[in-house]
Amino acid sequence: LGLSPRYEDIGATVCGTGKLEDFDASGIPPLFQQSNVVLFRGFDAGQDQFRIFSSKLSREFVTHVNFSREPYGDRTMTSVSPGKDHFFAHAEMGYLPFKPDVAWFYCEKPARKGGETTIYDGVQALKQLGKETRRLFEEKRILFCLTLPVSVWSEIAPDKSLLTIYLSKFDSKVFSFEFDEADFLHTRFVSSAIANTRYNGHSAFCNSLLDSNVPLFEDGSPIPKSAIYDVISVTEALSIPIMWQAGDVLMLDNSRFMHGRREFEGQERKVLVRFSNVAF
Ligand SMILES: [Fe+2]
Repeated sequence: LGLSPRYEDIGATVCGTGKLEDFDASGIPPLFQQSNVVLFRGFDAGQDQFRIFSSKLSREFVTHVNFSREPYGDRTMTSVSPGKDHFFAHAEMGYLPFKPDVAWFYCEKPARKGGETTIYDGVQALKQLGKETRRLFEEKRILFCLTLPVSVWSEIAPDKSLLTIYLSKFDSKVFSFEFDEADFLHTRFVSSAIANTRYNGHSAFCNSLLDSNVPLFEDGSPIPKSAIYDVISVTEALSIPIMWQAGDVLMLDNSRFMHGRREFEGQERKVLVRFSNVAF
């Protein structure tokens, strides 16, 4: 079943019954490589089922550095960003050199009104960007700067020396970091807005540009508002809403698809997320 009539080869829905952990997941890697988005619907999928099932298909989980999210068990499973506002298209954690392969979502309860998670195909987005915008992002990479307090970076590695070893393995031409006197970790990461997808070798506009407070190019110049507006209007026009049903699990290729959410009403909405690397 297609998620959306917009693109024939994109998105698949796996419908079933019974416990999600009992579902034979051996057919999922090839399905995911082809469709990039898989929605699991109809299963008995509580928080534990979500944890077990996503672990089955993952090699390792990436701890999210946004601590406004509430952890469920350990920090590899959290609530989404607080608030009820609209979120524009973004890849998850594209502002660091360890962007996860897969974004996992679990809907425990949909919002009373609105609150759809939206997904955006980066391959289509690249094709539809204005010529000038595309040229800019082809010529200049984006600079992402982050400041993380001890409470956050200690979740990535328990002490400074281990974290230093971990962060030092990333290419120093695009990633640098330092600790200040107050033990804040400052990171600088340069990344192209356009990159190859993990599967099938497409070029995609899939990045964390719209997740950045102060978007800059790598030379420190501001990214023109006109380019940002173009990205927003192109991606919003492409947005595919996931009409959540309680128990849904969504598996999204974070190298091709960006995601966001629509604003919502009420207190009910409960969507949990995990981010992982996979072995396929
Ligand atoms: Fe996100």
